[in-house]
Amino acid sequence: MKPQEIQHVQHSFAGVFARKADLAERFYVHLFTRLPEARGMFRGNFVKQKAMLTAMIAACVRNLDNPQTLAELSARLAQDHAHLDLGARESEAAKRALIAALRDVLGPALDLETETTWANAISRVAGTMTRH
Ligand code: HEM
Repeated sequence: MKPQEIQHVQHSFAGVFARKADLAERFYVHLFTRLPEARGMFRGNFVKQKAMLTAMIAACVRNLDNPQTLAELSARLAQDHAHLDLGARESEAAKRALIAALRDVLGPALDLETETTWANAISRVAGTMTRH
């Protein structure tokens, strides 16, 4: 990603951060619509889960220009999801769910350019969660 694309994603995330609880809520609504079987995988406290999701997204966004930290975050995500044996279908569903959640929260502020740069950023991280 080019530095200005990274800045674009970071700037757009700044507009979402104040509404991060909404973002997480919408992410799981979209994820479970696309992947109903995923609902049963969550065993823990879902309020805490939502906070961990947005904290992870925030850390990734903050470190898009820091390859080493981004690789560490990706490795942590891969480890946290390893027992689930997720594949390309699940990673695609996660990408689409996050874009759809951003659209719900940002509305028209999610223009085509912002959406494309987000999709690019998500692909860099989400692809590492899958085993096949
Ligand atoms: C944008 C993509 C995703 C991000 C950023 C993300 C992030 C996270 C984080 C931060 C955790 C908490 C790890 C911990 O306990 O410290 C987690 C747990 C989990 N994630 Fe994800 N996740 C993503 C996609 C998915 C997908 C696609 C699925 C399922 C199809 C999934 C299923 C789970 C499950 C089942 C847990 C464990 C929950 C529990 O133990 O109850 N995640 N995820």
